[in-house]
Amino acid sequence: MTGRPRIVFCAPGARAEPWLRGLGDALPSATIEAWTEHGGHEPADYAIVWTPPDTFYAAQPQLKAIFNLGAGVDGLLRSSALPAHVPLIRLEDAGMAPLMAEYVVQAAVRYAREFDLMEADRRAGKWVARRPTERAEYPVGVMGAGALGTPVAQALVANDFPVSSWSRSPKRIDGVRCFGGSDELDAFLGATRILVCLLPLTPETENILDRRLFDRLMPKAYLINVARGRHLVDADLLAAIAGERIVGATLDVFREEPLPATHPFWAEPRVTITPHCSALTQRKATLSQIVEKIARLERGEVVTGVVDRGRGY
Ligand code: NAP
Ligand code: GLV
Repeated sequence: MTGRPRIVFCAPGARAEPWLRGLGDALPSATIEAWTEHGGHEPADYAIVWTPPDTFYAAQPQLKAIFNLGAGVDGLLRSSALPAHVPLIRLEDAGMAPLMAEYVVQAAVRYAREFDLMEADRRAGKWVARRPTERAEYPVGVMGAGALGTPVAQALVANDFPVSSWSRSPKRIDGVRCFGGSDELDAFLGATRILVCLLPLTPETENILDRRLFDRLMPKAYLINVARGRHLVDADLLAAIAGERIVGATLDVFREEPLPATHPFWAEPRVTITPHCSALTQRKATLSQIVEKIARLERGEVVTGVVDRGRGY
């Protein structure tokens, strides 16, 4: 790196110190500062953020790029304070893909091997002999075939599931039946028993997991939502479970996080709840991706992962 870039880090709730140390080690010529609400900051060239307050941007008039410490940028795009003309760069896998694949495969295998039913029998103190199951009975459909959806689909194939994917544009993924665009959504859903949501949250995808969509899945379907809580219409899932249209759901993300103690999901045993942990940001891989991109930008080169604000991802 030839220049001496100024970097500001703002991730309220995260421990800044290991991030600052990692950045300092990788970019010894850079000036690196943690944002505080008391101000007094020099304007920076690059911001590295996760859920910054709106007031963060006011003191940063000359940013060349904003790096998000996550894959999803829906939270950042909701802020009217986000500068309109500064490139917003998201994480591309950055070590999250194997974690996401592991999470989704374990949830799919749990349903396909009926471990969820055995857990319920165990709670009821019942010994129930079980029939052998076959993967062919549990075709999986992955909504979103991007940096995370593609490796998730590949991991499901490696675990012998029949797998389809659905994305905005057409794709080719070995061993996966790929569907693209709204015209092919019906065919994708009709071939899916275990539905995995790995879409970004955008105006087009908000509330996509609703009653109309559940009705188009194969009978006795399952839902695995690892994307965002606002993809899902909570009341429609509860109704679909009550009517046995959906027979199990694994949810890692919620409209309100932490999930409020009074939310009906807590009382529904067929809903498995995890605390937004399916693919936590990996510091080492994240730092190396961001540092590499800062170096490219400093050399005037193009970088990948720049959010298309018109599309919302
Ligand atoms: P990505 O690389 O941008 O991939 C998004 C995929 O969704 C692409 O295949 C895209 O299609 C497709 N898509 C977008 N809008 C669509 C639409 N309207 N109709 C059909 N397909 C559409 O994103 P990613 O890195 O895989 O991450 C996906 C999401 O996972 C993130 O946005 C975030 O919300 C969530 N996430 C959750 C966790 C967690 O811990 N729970 C961790 C990381 C990420 P094209 O390929 O045609 O553009
Ligand atoms: C986590 O939810 C992310 O978007 O990376």
